[in-house]
Amino acid sequence: MEQEFFTRVDGELYCEGVKVKEAAETFGTPMYLYSAAHLRKRYRDFEEALKGSPHRICFAVKACSNVNILDLFAKEGAGFDIVSGGELYRVIKAGGDPRSCVYAGVGKSKAEIEYAVENEILYFGVESEPELERINAAAKKLGKKARVALRINPDVDAHTHEYITTGKSENKFGLAPEAARTLYLKMASAYPYVEAVGAQVHIGSQITETAPFLEGAKKLAAFIKELKVQGVSLKYFDIGGGLGIVYQNEDPATPAALVNELLPLVKELGMTFVCEMGRYMCGNAAMLVASVEYVKRTAKKNFVVVDAGMNDLLRPALYEAYHEIKAVEEKEEKFVCDVVGPICESADIFRKDCEIPAVEADDLLAICSAGAYGFSMSSNYNSRGRAAEVLVEGDKARLIRKRESFEDQVRNETTCE
Ligand code: LLP
Repeated sequence: MEQEFFTRVDGELYCEGVKVKEAAETFGTPMYLYSAAHLRKRYRDFEEALKGSPHRICFAVKACSNVNILDLFAKEGAGFDIVSGGELYRVIKAGGDPRSCVYAGVGKSKAEIEYAVENEILYFGVESEPELERINAAAKKLGKKARVALRINPDVDAHTHEYITTGKSENKFGLAPEAARTLYLKMASAYPYVEAVGAQVHIGSQITETAPFLEGAKKLAAFIKELKVQGVSLKYFDIGGGLGIVYQNEDPATPAALVNELLPLVKELGMTFVCEMGRYMCGNAAMLVASVEYVKRTAKKNFVVVDAGMNDLLRPALYEAYHEIKAVEEKEEKFVCDVVGPICESADIFRKDCEIPAVEADDLLAICSAGAYGFSMSSNYNSRGRAAEVLVEGDKARLIRKRESFEDQVRNETTCE
C-alpha cells in the first residue's frame, strides 16, 4: 500500500492520526496535506538499501520545495539535488548543508553559478562546455575551486512519458559520451579552477523498472572505467533520480531492488553511490484536499466542480497524469462524473468519467498521490492564490505554508500612478 499513512477508519479518512475533514475545517481548502511519517519512511528505505556502502542520498528539491519539508530531509541526513539558485536558497534557509548539494540543469546563470560556488556545493552536474567555462570563471573570480560531475547522456529509453524522459540523445540534457570524454581529459589544463569529482546520468522520471536504470548505469560505469585508464579518476557515481511510484496500478521497483542491481557496478569502481530521488520520496506523501463547489448536471454529463484547479495541480492537464480521487467521507451512492476545477481552460480536469461517491456541494474530495510536482508546479493562473500546505506528524497538523491572499499576489507589482 503506497499511501499507507492515509487510512480510512470507520468511514473517516485520516492522514496519520489527523482527520482529513478536521484539517480542512481548520486550514481551509484547497490544501496540500503531507504525512511526515511517509517522507521519513521513504528516505529511510533508501538509507537501508545503501547501508554499509559509501553513498549520498539527495532529495530532488523541485519535487516538493517547502522549506519545512527540506528541513525534515536535512534532519534525516539527506543531501539535495537542486536546479536553481532559488532551490539552493531554500536548502540553506531550511538548515540544509550547501556542501551536500548537487546542481543540475542546462541553463545555470552566472549569478546562480557564483552563488553555488560561494556556498561550496558538493558538485555541479555540468551539461555543456560553455557552462564549464562559466563555472571555471566564477571559481577563479571567487578564489575557489569548484567541483564538477559531467552529466552523460547515455541514450537510454526510460519507457516513460515523453515530457519526462531525459536520457535520449535527442533530449537537451547532458553531454554525449565522446564529448564528455574530451572535456574530462582537457579539464585539468584548460579549466584549472574546476575539479572533476564525479559523473552523472539522469534518464527520466516515473520509471518503474530497473532495466533502464541498469542500462544507463552500465554505460556510465564503462565510461568511467575507460576514463580511469586515461588517467582521470572520479569519486561520485550519480545515477540521478527517477524511481516511479504507484498512482494507479503500477508495480514499481523498490529501492532495494534498484540498489541491488546498481551497487555492484559502483563498488567495483570503488566509488560513492549518489542518487537524486524526488517523486519516490514525496509523491505518495500528500493529498490535495478540495471542496466541492457545485455539482453541475448537464444532458451529457455530471461535472463535479471543486475549488482546486490546474493551477494547484498541473499534472493531469499537462501529462494526462492519473491521480486517484477519493471522497473524504464515504457515501453509499456513487455516480459517474468529470471532476473539474474552476479555471477557464478545458484542460482543467482532474479526472474524466470516473465513478466516485455521489458528493454534493461542500463535501470534500482528496486528490491522491499529489506530493511530488504538485505544489511545486502550482501557479497563480486566473489570479488564484496558491493553496495552503499542512504537514501532519502523528496527531498534530501544522500549517507550513499559508494560503496566498489577494495582497500576496500583487505584492511585487508596481502600482500605477
Ligand atoms: N535529478 C535530475 C537531474 C532531474 O532532472 C530530476 C527531475 C530528478 C533528479 C528527480 O526526478 P524524480 O526522482 O522526481 O523522478 N514534473 C514532472 C517530473 C519532472 C522531472 C524533472 N526532473 C512530473 O510531474 O511528472
